[in-house]
Amino acid sequence: MTKTIEITQKDGVVLVRLNRPKQLNALNMELKNEILAELPKLDKDPSVRCFVLTGNEKAFAAGGDIKEMSVLSYAKAAAEDYFSDWDVFVNMRTPKIAAVNGYALGGGCELAMMCDFIIAGEGAQFGQPEIKLGIIAGMGGSQRMTKLIGRAKSMDMHLTGRMMPADEALACGLVARVVPDDQVLENALAAGVQIAAYSKPVTALVRDVVNRADETSLAEGLFFERRVFHSLFSTEDQKEGMNAFIEKRKPNFKDK
Ligand code: CAA
Repeated sequence: MTKTIEITQKDGVVLVRLNRPKQLNALNMELKNEILAELPKLDKDPSVRCFVLTGNEKAFAAGGDIKEMSVLSYAKAAAEDYFSDWDVFVNMRTPKIAAVNGYALGGGCELAMMCDFIIAGEGAQFGQPEIKLGIIAGMGGSQRMTKLIGRAKSMDMHLTGRMMPADEALACGLVARVVPDDQVLENALAAGVQIAAYSKPVTALVRDVVNRADETSLAEGLFFERRVFHSLFSTEDQKEGMNAFIEKRKPNFKDK
């Protein structure tokens, strides 16, 4: 039984709801530990084909838990390499969608950016306000946001600590879609169901090749994409997908 997150599963999609509403879903150690204990197991489950992470109407997550962090020492943060363990979540190979209503601030914005894409409600607000607390982003914000929206806007967000509304987040590429607030979850779950119908090894490879673009030169990235593309012609799912198209029927992928 988890206390700070709720996990439900339907049609191959695992919905993970952050559940500390009184604290605006601030990410305390318990919540992080529950995510890192439960989700990697589901990631390995062949019936789990997409994750949707969400919060509530008011907040996706308003950041790392400030009360918990207020007494943290440098020695402990450094010795335990604080927040490096979120890499386990990032490196899960099943696609992850963040469905964001309300605040996604600090670690909350960073958690959303760890997902493969973000679907936001019109009233969502993104930000890296750590500067106001005398710290900086510590869950990847300075790097992931800069990759997503570019240096100028990322500097603006990190140096001023301002909030960015959903329409601006869409225009600068922080989020993939903006939909009415009451349709965020429905939209994200529908995207999850769509992804769930595809070949799981192929959705994992899509993540690998797109993520490679952040790590390497264009020439190396193109080379990697081509090699992965070639390898897919050894799969049953490639034959099934193409034959289904030709035979005008729905494909039945077997993950092989
Ligand atoms: N940590 C701990 N508790 C938090 C929190 C956080 N990040 N954000 C909100 N809360 C708590 C508040 O303390 C309050 O609790 P009490 O009722 O016990 O006082 C409750 O949630 C409701 O919050 P507010 O009363 O402040 O709600 P509001 O609607 O007036 O304001 C807000 C909303 C603008 C989001 C405001 O809560 C806020 O600024 N929160 C902090 C945002 C922030 O600085 N995030 C970055 C944290 S540091 C970080 O994330 C570092 C990292 O990289 C991991």
